[in-house]
This record gives sequence, structure tokens and C-alpha cells, in this order.
Amino acid sequence: MENIRIEKIDNMGRGICYIDNKITFVPNTLPGELVNINITKESKKYNEGIVTKYLETSPDRVESLCPYFDSCGGCALLNTSYSNTLKYKKEKLESIILKYSGLKLDINVIESPNDLHYRNKITLKIKNNEYGYYISETHKLVKIDDCLLAEQSISDFIKDIKYLGIKDGELVIRTNYLNELLLVIDSKTKPQIDIDYLTNNHKIKGIILNNKLVYGESSFKEVINHLIFNVSYDSFFQVNREICRIIFDKLNEYIDKSKCILDLYSGVGTLGISVSHKVDKVYSLEIVKNATLNGISNAKLNDASNIYFMLGKVEDNIKKIKDEIDTIILDPPRAGLDKVTRDFITRMNPQKIIYISCDPMTLARDLKELSLNYKVKEVTGLDMFPYTYHCESITVLERR
Ligand SMILES: C[S@@+](CC[C@H](N)C(=O)[O-])C[C@H]1O[C@@H](n2cnc3c(N)ncnc32)[C@H](O)[C@@H]1O
Repeated sequence: MENIRIEKIDNMGRGICYIDNKITFVPNTLPGELVNINITKESKKYNEGIVTKYLETSPDRVESLCPYFDSCGGCALLNTSYSNTLKYKKEKLESIILKYSGLKLDINVIESPNDLHYRNKITLKIKNNEYGYYISETHKLVKIDDCLLAEQSISDFIKDIKYLGIKDGELVIRTNYLNELLLVIDSKTKPQIDIDYLTNNHKIKGIILNNKLVYGESSFKEVINHLIFNVSYDSFFQVNREICRIIFDKLNEYIDKSKCILDLYSGVGTLGISVSHKVDKVYSLEIVKNATLNGISNAKLNDASNIYFMLGKVEDNIKKIKDEIDTIILDPPRAGLDKVTRDFITRMNPQKIIYISCDPMTLARDLKELSLNYKVKEVTGLDMFPYTYHCESITVLERR
């Protein structure tokens, strides 16, 4: 197809054009660009294509810094400036929230202090001793020797993955403020790990193979704003430490002195602990056992003796809380709130709800319901995942 004009960018960072009135998605294109494309997939509702030639490029285009950009697709926005990616995220958040909740908002997006080397965790696939990322929605491996998103200690480790001797499987590499590494391996065959080489060249804190500790310790410490957190290999932690700091600051700005608050989907207890000095009592609800155990030790480490941890599903445990609740902090996974939890929160009738979201679609769906009883005071975007199309946000709702 020749002389195709790209109209806009979709929610996954791909260019959109129309061919015979059918929407067509073309990665690595920007609005206004004129391109020749090959159609790679045709379905009833849409096409997908790839560029074969750029005839006119956008003034917003920059050369991607990543050598794997064309094949990997993980950082769909590395073809434009960082400030443009922030504009994209503002428009994406505003348009999704308007479309799915009817709320017309002006959203400020806070930039990440580090726009590269910000991730403290990456997940790689290993196939026949070769490692890399899967191209989105495929099982095709893009081999990598570095990743611009990963913190430097992870980047430095990638070139030495071969010393783990994994043939096939998955490897999660996590790092902390001390540049220590936790390596979490999932493999059907027993890897031949060269532990001497690895420990002489990297700060290996622990190696976990198929959920069993095979070297060192199964957790490490993380520090955010002078608070200390134990984080087990299988506990969630915010991937961008600097944005986590900003979330703590925002929570402290939004939460007034209160009697009782809830920290739902609490992970290792971070958010509740960060505001525990302002409240009499916190209930932290989390489904992962090790994260809850981390939370209990983290409360002690940070002198927060007013936090009560409940292990299990939020939708089951929230019903057991009988106290009057002033504020609810929500930080659910991408799926957002289930109906039981949403209804229960409304019945609890707290003065404030603070909703941290990593998926604008489910946020918008939940805001539509919650805004029947709550006024949306502010939505702020947080660039947790620079150069990817993902949008994190923090929303403050107040009872009408
Ligand atoms: C986005 S993380 C937030 C963690 C924490 N608030 C933080 O800032 O580090 C979501 C957390 O919800 C937990 N989770 C997922 N589904 C859950 C459920 N139904 N009930 C309780 N916790 C759940 C996950 O294990 C994860 O720790």
C-alpha cells in the first residue's frame, strides 16, 4: 500500500490510518507521517501493517536509542521525545476517562525523574539458551543484551545471563537501592549455575529456582523516603522507585489526620506505612502470603504499630471490617475493582478515596460507578513506565 497518511496514535502507541474505511494499526509511525506499508494481518474489523518506506516523517520523530526498537515493541514511544510521550499520556488518560466515565478532566502528568534505566524488575524468556523479550502477543523471542528501561545493575547482569545455565524457561531479575540482585528462575530442566562467576561479578542477594531458594536469601530491602521495606522475591513492589517516592508524597498531601483508613491491595504494606503516622489505625489487605509477611515485618521496621494486616482476597476480607473508615487507599492490579469490592466501598461511605491505577480503562469504569456518590477532585498522571504506552495515575475522590 502506498502513500498512506497516519492520522493519530492509538492507546497502544501505534499509528492509525484508514484503508477502505477499515482501521489499520501501524507501529512506529507518528501523526502526519506519509508511509508505504505492508499489511501483516487482516481481520473483519481491523488491519495491522508495517512500514516499508517512510515518505514524509514527523518533526516529532527522533532516532530511537534502543537497538531492538524495531523488533521488540516494548517501548512503543521511543521514536519521539520524552516531552511528547508525556503529552500522549495526558491525552490518553483524558480521552479514556471521558469516553468510559463521562468525566471531562484536565490531567497533569508528572514526569519520571529518570526516563531511562528506571525499572527495578524485568522478566525475560529463555529459549534454547537464548534470552530476550517476547514480541507482544506472540511467542517470538527478540534476543537482547541490554535493556534501556532496566536499572543499571540489571542491564549489567543481562550480558552474564549465560552463567545461569538455563536452557528454557523464564527469568525475573529484581534489584534494589543497593544494586543487589534477586534472580527468580522458572525452568523445567536443572540449570548449571556458575555461582562463583556470578557472585564475583554481581551483587547476587539470592537465587530462587522454581520457588525454592538455591542461593543466598529470598528477599532484599528497599528504601523509599527513609522508610525501609523487606521485599520477598514474589512480592509486588512499584517498578519505578522515584515514582513510588512521588506516590508517598502525594498520599501524605491528600490524607488528613484520621481515625481509621484502609490500604487495599497493599503488597508489602508500603502505602499504609507511608501515612501511618497520620492515622490511628490502618487495615492493610493483600492476597500474597509472603507480601503480607513482609508487610508485618515492615510495620515493625518502621515503627508503625497501628497497622493490621489481613491475608486473603480484598473482596472477602473487606466485609470483616466493622470500624468507621475515613479514607480508603486503593491500588488494585490492572483489572481494577471487582463489583463486590466497589459496592462494599460505597456502603462503607468513607470521606475520601484515593485510587492508584495502572490501567486507565478499568479506572474509568470504576470512576463511573464511584462518581455517583463521590466527586472526582483530581486525577494526576504519574509516568511510572516512560516510553511505554502504559499510564499510571492517582485519583482523589471526595464524598458528595
Ligand atoms: C498494584 S499492586 C499494589 C501493591 C502496593 N499497594 C504497593 O504500592 O506496593 C497490587 C497488589 O494487589 C494484590 N492483589 C491482587 N488481587 C488481589 C485481591 N483480589 N485481593 C487482595 N490483594 C490482591 C497483588 O498481590 C499486589 O500486591
